[in-house]
Amino acid sequence: MEAYLDYIPDISWWKVTLLGATGVSIYMIKSRVAGRMCPSKALMVGKTVIITGANSGIGKATALELAKRQARVILACRDEELANAAVRDIRKKTASGQLVVKRLDLASLASVKKFVEDVSNDEDRVDVLINNAGVLQCPFSKTEEGFEMQMGVNHLGHFYLTNLLLPKLKQSTPSRVIVVSSGLHKLGKIEFDNLNSEKSYDPRAGYANSKLANNMFARELSSRLEGTGVSVYCLHPGMVFTNLGRHVMPSFLIKLLLYPLAWLLVKSPYAGCQTVLYCAVAEELEGVTGRYYGSCEEEEWTQVSLDDVVSKKLWNVSEELTGLKS
Ligand SMILES: NC(=O)c1ccc[n+]([C@@H]2O[C@H](COP(=O)([O-])OP(=O)(O)OC[C@H]3O[C@@H](n4cnc5c(N)ncnc54)[C@H](OP(=O)(O)O)[C@@H]3O)[C@@H](O)[C@H]2O)c1
Repeated sequence: MEAYLDYIPDISWWKVTLLGATGVSIYMIKSRVAGRMCPSKALMVGKTVIITGANSGIGKATALELAKRQARVILACRDEELANAAVRDIRKKTASGQLVVKRLDLASLASVKKFVEDVSNDEDRVDVLINNAGVLQCPFSKTEEGFEMQMGVNHLGHFYLTNLLLPKLKQSTPSRVIVVSSGLHKLGKIEFDNLNSEKSYDPRAGYANSKLANNMFARELSSRLEGTGVSVYCLHPGMVFTNLGRHVMPSFLIKLLLYPLAWLLVKSPYAGCQTVLYCAVAEELEGVTGRYYGSCEEEEWTQVSLDDVVSKKLWNVSEELTGLKS
């Protein structure tokens, strides 16, 4: 019995050590997964930022961080109730900054036009436009104008929005346009004879193609805006734990099993928004344009993004499809 009692403290020490080592390992894995945090402490006093899809995930986390930096943040969302709920959540965390909800459905060019009219009437300036909203691998569906949903929302809606907002952005220089793309753009291809999946639809290819379109749009926009004082930044946020996977989520049981693993190995929205934040606020990026970022650092553009012939053709086709050039 005595020998047994002697043994107990040994087990406890062993347990404490194991627990400590597990805690440290989890912390190290999570910090590594999170990547670099935005190194800039710049405030955004007097600056107005528009974030599309700001009621959820990366957009909502960005709205919170920019509010903390005292920006006026316009949450451009398709569902005003969800946007107001996001504002209430953000207000629980900070009383700083101004939060304004405006309706924007990127699957409707009429809604985009109405949004830009509202912004033009109500806002003196727009310092930063963050093209963040996105849809991933949804079943085949069409926007109001008949574009395939992923190409329509992720690329064409933002293409139209940015072009209509350019006068305001040019009035507010130095100003910034930030395009939230994805590493999956590497698998993309711009197929002009199937841009809206008229011939065939593969949800994975549809997402990758729309994200390649984001990269090409950002490069082409930056060259068209050279010398205007409007800078363009494109980025990939890494893998982030958000609602983006809603159309590809497995069954409830598998989700339950995957959640702890995802919690450990996928970035939180706070970590996922850091590169967006960096591109929005970093003073050292003032005047820099047409570059690609990941983990708060500049990265090389991928080869597939550098095809200027396709980028220019995509611009022209996008102008025709959205009616910007009739
Ligand atoms: N999460 C990742 O691992 C990851 C990786 C690479 C790139 N990204 C990119 O990061 C961006 C943000 O995604 P997230 O991960 O934060 O996903 P999320 O939580 O699903 O947020 C997406 C946002 O886009 C909005 N949206 C969708 N369709 C819209 C429409 N027609 N009009 C206006 N807003 C619309 C959503 O609004 P509702 O809530 O109303 O649907 C939501 O607010 C996307 O561009 C995505 O491609 C994410």
